Amino acid sequence: MKIMKKLLAVALMLVLVLGVMAGCSSGNDEKTNDDGTQQKETLVMATNAQFPPYEYYDGDKIVGIDAEVAALIAEKLGMELEIADIEFDSIVPGVQQGKYDMGMAGMTVNDERLEQVNFTTSYAKGVQVVIVKEDSDIKTIDDLTGKKIGAQQGTTGAIYAAEDYGEENVTTYASGNLAVEGLKTGKVDCVIIDNEPAKAYVSENEGLKILETEYANEDYAIAIAKDNTELMDKVNTALEELIANGELQKIVDKYITSEE
Ligand code: ARG
Repeated sequence: MKIMKKLLAVALMLVLVLGVMAGCSSGNDEKTNDDGTQQKETLVMATNAQFPPYEYYDGDKIVGIDAEVAALIAEKLGMELEIADIEFDSIVPGVQQGKYDMGMAGMTVNDERLEQVNFTTSYAKGVQVVIVKEDSDIKTIDDLTGKKIGAQQGTTGAIYAAEDYGEENVTTYASGNLAVEGLKTGKVDCVIIDNEPAKAYVSENEGLKILETEYANEDYAIAIAKDNTELMDKVNTALEELIANGELQKIVDKYITSEE
């Protein structure tokens, strides 16, 4: 009987110790599950997946340049990538508050965002362009004054348009898709958006074209919380490797066929 009690006590201790060990094993990139298998830590990327070819749905899977580059970064970090598809203008605050590890969404580096988060090395260039109906009387950027402009809320396109043409002339939409719908149904006269998604939208919808004059040039980078310098260093190292060894370009070439 005494022996039984002792054994029970030892067994209980063991369970306790194991439990504590399991709880303390984070901090490493790999965690041990209760069954002894290794579990990778997750790298949570916030995006807004209506932005082809950077992020969009193929069935129920989020694909695109950002999704693929992020997967390679996670692999280099020995982490499991998880993608959260949220409103574009919730990405920077969400990263700032630590809800997500990083924000990757064809996101332009600008001063306003730099007050809230840090950005990695830039991995792509963006150009803001103007989509109009084929028969539009808007021929160049100079014809935009007094026109109704559509853009995705919180994007640089929407910010510049409000600065240059007045907030009262800008209608913002939850996605670029919806802004293009607004153009098709005549609610706005044009849409200001990044060139690659613009090309995708124009090829998917009849009767639209992109103005030849470019509206603004910008750099895309990954947003990371200011206090998360450890992750910033790791992601920058991984990203710079992918740029240097041509793997990033390979992904870009898969999604963007350069004309000319
Ligand atoms: N480059 C623009 C910006 O940073 C638009 C990005 C929109 N991205 C998206 N995934 N919807 O404001």
